[in-house]
Amino acid sequence: MSPEIVAFFDAATSTYSYVVSDPASKRCAIIDPVLDYDPAAGRTSLGSAARVLEHVRELGLTLDWLLETHVHADHLSAAAHLKHQLGGRLAIGERVTVVQETFAKLFNTGSEFATDGRQFDRLFRDGDSFSIGAIPARALHTPGHTPGCMTYLIGDAAFVGDTLFMPDYGTARCDFPGGDARSLYRSIRRLFELPGETRLFMCHDYKAPGRDHHRYQTTVAEQRADNVHVRDGIDEQTFVTMRRARDAELHVPALILPAVQVNMRAGELPPAEDNGTRYLKIPVDVL
Ligand SMILES: [Fe+2]
Repeated sequence: MSPEIVAFFDAATSTYSYVVSDPASKRCAIIDPVLDYDPAAGRTSLGSAARVLEHVRELGLTLDWLLETHVHADHLSAAAHLKHQLGGRLAIGERVTVVQETFAKLFNTGSEFATDGRQFDRLFRDGDSFSIGAIPARALHTPGHTPGCMTYLIGDAAFVGDTLFMPDYGTARCDFPGGDARSLYRSIRRLFELPGETRLFMCHDYKAPGRDHHRYQTTVAEQRADNVHVRDGIDEQTFVTMRRARDAELHVPALILPAVQVNMRAGELPPAEDNGTRYLKIPVDVL
């Protein structure tokens, strides 16, 4: 079954968010929504989230699920805000707890922050089924970029998060805490077992050299034929060597510190201090 899919692009972070709906029942999911954040001012804003919200309201959709593919390091999540507005259940992979434990230590969160995933309404295990209206969906654990990464297979469409990028751009970095190039390769090979015509939807597009427009949709067959990092014929060790060499050259993402602090809390800011202000921490000389 084919869900209806509308993509929203956040140019500031090159992130794609999606509204995925069952046209018959008008039930929907929102995947990886973005909360705008100006790091210089320490100010959040709702431009990106408002566009998603308007779309859901205009079409008269009922929100069943807010799905995070992983704890993003490049943008803040608007899932908490959208849940307050639209209801629905907020879900992520169960291995979010590994990410929470790692970053609870880094940010020295103390007893204020639980690392058992309780901030989310549902923690998906590999193979868990759910649905959007009458459209069957499945959660697949696809670690590598982070240990908790999930792919959501909804009807004939897979939302791969940062597992794959467009074929001409390749794959995501694996050098965050708990990331692992070998796991990513295996996760991708698992996705490549899906039928060739399965539609794949990216979480990011950075425009590969020579391409002047953004793209966000491809298929399993296209990836297997053309992905510059993992097309058929590229073996695990070749991929791992390439991925590690590239990762060693990459800069720390601009928003990793604010983003992870918010996203590990399911899109909520840390609690206000006694003056009523919420703060994000910057660990110095750690990353
Ligand atoms: Fe990511």
